[in-house]
Amino acid sequence: MKVMVIGGGGREHAIIKAINKSPKVKTIYALPGNGGIAEDAICVNIGAKDIAAICDFAKKENIDYAVVAPDDPLVLGCVDALNEIGVPCFGPNKAAAIIEGSKVFSKNLMKKYNIPTAEYFVFNSANDALEHLKTADIPVVIKADGLALGKGVIIATTRDEAIDAVHSIMEDKVFGESGNNIVVEEFLTGPEVSVLAFTDGKTVVPMVSSMDHKRAGDNDTGLNTGGMGTVAPNPYYTEDVAKQCMDTIFLPTIKAMKAEGRTFKGCLYFGLMLTPKGPKVIEYNCRFGDPETQVVLPLLESDLFEIMQSVTNETLSAEKVKFSSGSACCVIVASKGYPVKYENGFEIKLPTPDNDICYYVAGAKKQDGKLLSAGGRVLGVTAVGSNLSDAIDKAYAATKKVQFENGFYRSDIGQKALAKAFKPESALKG
Ligand code: AMP
Ligand code: GLY
Repeated sequence: MKVMVIGGGGREHAIIKAINKSPKVKTIYALPGNGGIAEDAICVNIGAKDIAAICDFAKKENIDYAVVAPDDPLVLGCVDALNEIGVPCFGPNKAAAIIEGSKVFSKNLMKKYNIPTAEYFVFNSANDALEHLKTADIPVVIKADGLALGKGVIIATTRDEAIDAVHSIMEDKVFGESGNNIVVEEFLTGPEVSVLAFTDGKTVVPMVSSMDHKRAGDNDTGLNTGGMGTVAPNPYYTEDVAKQCMDTIFLPTIKAMKAEGRTFKGCLYFGLMLTPKGPKVIEYNCRFGDPETQVVLPLLESDLFEIMQSVTNETLSAEKVKFSSGSACCVIVASKGYPVKYENGFEIKLPTPDNDICYYVAGAKKQDGKLLSAGGRVLGVTAVGSNLSDAIDKAYAATKKVQFENGFYRSDIGQKALAKAFKPESALKG
């Protein structure tokens, strides 16, 4: 089959490497892909948001199946447009992608269907929000309603910070139209877990759990980023917690979306916090996480492409989805200065991958045969090991072999998970 993958980051590289293993997949196009993806797929210079050009390309090349990976095209209706010209897709339609596209929608959905989440208020006027903040508990969390490149969440630890956040989101429009409405919500505490789940709208099959590391610096210091590394599985996510999440969050969410006439088909990402009062939803994403995908898919033993097709065909309940019992660790190598200001164009030399190691390329281009940095997050170095400690050691050993003078990475990816794995009694203490 001729398959097209929309997107061009480390997540897409991991998806492409995984579906490439399927005997059903003959050719993969990446739109736009990147300099590293070019080793595994044919890159086509069409942007992920250019839906008209994506559809033209699909028609011209007789594409049999499309995987729409990033949030923007999903929220803009890329799946609807491709379906209209007869191309089956993996990914939710526009009506369902709103679960990530609007935080006001997702919060109201959770409230209506009794799905555990932080208490919240919605405001469409800065004055009303400011009035509310006069008496709100601090810390407080302020979220822009729409997509904001993962930056639309501000955790205000003082009342003044909260007031500034409202001014900058609603009046200065730092996140553009995404800030027309805001959610002001209760600050929750507890370990965070990411769970990606396949769903065809009726059945939900959670993948192995993972833990992201969002801050730029060691020990969770510095600015928030798109994610500086991941491990899977997440030791906080015990069997008991998993059962609780299935009963109170995963199944109720799928049923709620169906009841709203917004059946969700694709990968639904549950960003969870294991609070002292039980697991609660921090956020939904309508897609695979980045860099969660880079640790989850290497542990998948079943054929990813077959699973994706079963999601599209609504036959997921009959599909075998098996993960290995090992662990994985992904260390992100970013450009110095990320997530604020950084320079591009530095050469990256990757070693030949050993067994169990994958160099996923996120932000780099090929020029004159050289791989040059072209983004904030440049690489995701993933290792699979028999246990967490083994995976972490292998991932760091492989990262040290990368030659990239303008790169930096956190040195403590997985350490919190490791501490928990060896001290189970500390569960839920954060
Ligand atoms: P998001 O961009 O929605 O993933 O949020 C970024 C990060 O903000 C999350 O990973 C959490 O660490 C934190 N966060 C979001 N909402 C809350 C909340 N209600 N309480 C505490 N932390 C939160
Ligand atoms: N790693 C967080 C996300 O994909 O949104």
